[in-house]
Amino acid sequence: MFVTRAITDVGLERLRAVCDVDLWDEATPPPYETLVVRTSGCVGLLALLTDRVDAALLDACTDLRVVSNFAVGYDNVDVEACSARGIAVGHTPGVLTEATADLAFCLLIAAARHVPAAQQSVLRGEWRTWEPRGFLGRHLQFGTIGIVGMGRIGMALARRCHKGWGMHVLYADPRTNEDAERELHAQRVPLRQLLAQSDFISLHAPLVPETEYMIDAAALRAMKPTAVLVNTARGALVDQDALFDALTQGRLHAAGLDVTDPEPVATEDPLLHLPNCIVTPHIASATVRARDAMAEIAAENLILGIEGRALRHAVGRRVN
Ligand code: DGY
Repeated sequence: MFVTRAITDVGLERLRAVCDVDLWDEATPPPYETLVVRTSGCVGLLALLTDRVDAALLDACTDLRVVSNFAVGYDNVDVEACSARGIAVGHTPGVLTEATADLAFCLLIAAARHVPAAQQSVLRGEWRTWEPRGFLGRHLQFGTIGIVGMGRIGMALARRCHKGWGMHVLYADPRTNEDAERELHAQRVPLRQLLAQSDFISLHAPLVPETEYMIDAAALRAMKPTAVLVNTARGALVDQDALFDALTQGRLHAAGLDVTDPEPVATEDPLLHLPNCIVTPHIASATVRARDAMAEIAAENLILGIEGRALRHAVGRRVN
């Protein structure tokens, strides 16, 4: 099997106990051509969200039985092409929910209260006295949170906002989430209504053709100028040029992005130099507990797929 990066030890040890592991042990992902060459002849591939697993790769890797994605999202994998070739696809849902919701809330409060800009000013030696009008942010308690995509992670953030901060919860989702409506009195509304009425907006939708650049110039214009936008899902949900315009023209209070389009974002990208935009390097699931649990599931999915058994967490058509 080919493992495209050093996942945490619990996963690697589990894999090494049962099969030969060809590990790409570099700090950055294997280039696509290397990914294809190293995967050909393998029955299993443990991929990261940075690895493109497309039909051309699958055609070159005819022995492949399973692609185990070390992530809950799987937009990097052509699942349909895998299913058509009888290749199982696994992912790691559930175990990174709370870690991701924590980071979404962290970005929300840090962006609302200008935390990074305030720290930068201290580092620049600009803290001369207590400022009655300095770094005035948005008040969180009793505000309205708009959750775009009320799945596990959206629900975990909504719980924090409603139960901890007394927020009113709006959500936009193709499906009704009865738990959210019963437990949090959440209201399902059309996306445009959510954008117009929310004080804080957090994105938790998968990246699919229907959601690509869903937060475009028109969507940003629909938001309150006092609103805070958070994205811990996928960078391509947001049109970053339009976001830059909104943040610099006083049409949006602040943004917190854990994901960008592309990743990594270029250091000269103007978004990085705005005082009202926080960017972190896709770390929402980066807790020891979450990454160990992801590693265990990804390893188990891979082993089950190689053995021709049903995966613990599969997507696409059932092949085993
Ligand atoms: C995922 O799992 O999809 C996250 O983006 C990384 O943990």
